[in-house]
Amino acid sequence: MDLLTVRNLGKIYTGAVSYEALADINLTVDKGEFVGIMGPSGSGKTTLLNMVSTIDRPTSGEVRIAGEDPFKLTYDQLALFRRRELGFVFQAYNLLQTLTVKENIMLPLVLDGLPLADMNRRADELAEKLGIASIMGKRTYEISGGQAQRTAIARALIHRPKLVLADEPTGNLDSKAARDVMGILEKRNAEDRTTMLLVTHDAAAASYCNRVIFIKDGRLYNEIHCGDSRAAFYQRIIDLLSVMGGNDNEFSPVRHS
Ligand SMILES: Nc1ncnc2c1ncn2[C@@H]1O[C@H](COP(=O)(O)OP(=O)(O)O)[C@@H](O)[C@H]1O
Ligand SMILES: [Mg+2]
Repeated sequence: MDLLTVRNLGKIYTGAVSYEALADINLTVDKGEFVGIMGPSGSGKTTLLNMVSTIDRPTSGEVRIAGEDPFKLTYDQLALFRRRELGFVFQAYNLLQTLTVKENIMLPLVLDGLPLADMNRRADELAEKLGIASIMGKRTYEISGGQAQRTAIARALIHRPKLVLADEPTGNLDSKAARDVMGILEKRNAEDRTTMLLVTHDAAAASYCNRVIFIKDGRLYNEIHCGDSRAAFYQRIIDLLSVMGGNDNEFSPVRHS
């Protein structure tokens, strides 16, 4: 079943100069899929994710999530749709510093007025699965980057969204923490069948996906599927990136962080 359908999507940023950041993007994601989006810097990855996540409006084309066209909703309905059906993970974690880890995780449920006992149970269950049970009482400035991102992932999952959108979630992490975070996303996807869309320029991170879509200059360029071996998939991603060109540095298989 299609969870996400993107049809003839285009985005033109208008300003002093107008710029066509996306053109004619068609994309279907099945329920339970874990799809990566890669492409050189400036190719339109974040723009695409922002259209799907309803953060920004497309200039043309259509987005459907679980059969719903979010851009046809009223402002209030859209806010609710985003909060209930979508989960967001960002490179910079976007946690609230005045809250504890646990309070951050429970936030989406607090907004929905769930009973406290239910919130606690769900938060504790998820924290156990994500390996952050021991830091639930800490403030966000007392934890590592990897722990912060796992907290952000728990917050993105706690309301059981239909679609999780992650923009460079490993961008600020060292390679060990990045592997942990990708392993967690992979496991949640496999066990809960949460559909996930991941933007990354890191081939190692992308190799955790079932499928990777490549965009270049705002257009779909290619897509490849993971076979039986993640190592082989990783190599095919690297090969495709090198054929695609763009900024060599950005696609270096050697991590710089
Ligand atoms: N708000 C904006 N206004 C004008 N141009 C933008 C805006 N956001 C992004 N762009 C431009 O659109 C292109 C795609 O950007 P983006 O989607 O952020 O790329 P990526 O995430 O692949 O690096 C870039 O050339 C960028 O400069
Ligand atoms: Mg980006």
